[in-house]
Amino acid sequence: MKIIESTDAAHAHVRRRTGKSVLVPTMGALHRGHLELIRVAREHAGNAGEVAVSIFVNPLQFEPGSDFEKYPRPESADEKFCEDAGVNLLFRPRQMYFDDRSVYVEETRLSAGLCGASRPGHFQGVCTVVAKLFNLLAPAATVFGEKDYQQLAVIRRMVRDLNFPIEIIGVPTVREADGLALSSRNQYLSADERAAAPALYQAMLRVKELAAGGENSVSKLIDVAKEVVSPAKRARIDYITIVDAENLEPLENLRPNALIALAVFVGETRLIDNLRLT
Ligand code: PAF
Repeated sequence: MKIIESTDAAHAHVRRRTGKSVLVPTMGALHRGHLELIRVAREHAGNAGEVAVSIFVNPLQFEPGSDFEKYPRPESADEKFCEDAGVNLLFRPRQMYFDDRSVYVEETRLSAGLCGASRPGHFQGVCTVVAKLFNLLAPAATVFGEKDYQQLAVIRRMVRDLNFPIEIIGVPTVREADGLALSSRNQYLSADERAAAPALYQAMLRVKELAAGGENSVSKLIDVAKEVVSPAKRARIDYITIVDAENLEPLENLRPNALIALAVFVGETRLIDNLRLT
């Protein structure tokens, strides 16, 4: 596995590279969810192609007061993880931004609600770093998890609107046996909080069940989800919403393509998840 730690070296690598490259952008603290992204990347790159993983804890996407400083950075474990997973290129830049940077990439519509409303500037940070990664590593395709559904939608829109010649591949969420979606942030949870966290998935499943039974009032379905999440220990709902999966607009009544999305603080840890309802 080749390791590159500077933007100049990334450009030099791309100039010499032949064959298809598929990128898995990450912030490290790699887990089974990332392993699935790497597996899908390999499927698309083929054995002769390149699977590239980037690891960069991007300060631009952490709003003030969030967990940038404490975000886990297990560098040597991540390196071994990539090696064992058959990754060809590990890009872990030491420096991504100029101190006097003045150019940002912003998606203005899909970013407005859901996590964008609670985390101002977050998606601008994501789009800016992902656009830079695309320019630095010039992948033919790139893989993102559907757990961060809004992020995936925003990146697809950025790629479409800015004509990046890159295929975006969404990968279904990987879950623990009790339904908790895998996330690097799960390691912040205390034992009690970890026991409470599957309430997010249980709430979404309950809503899906009611929807399948014919309930189509979104406000009723959201109330039910709240009833499931609220009693969970140390849970504080940030948002629970049902949106159109294409344009992320809130729905009043269920129709095809409806998606439930939620963000819940369990203790200090903000967990997000989503599930297709129709
Ligand atoms: O999903 C993530 O880990 C990050 O938001 C990403 C896409 C790597 C950008 O920093």
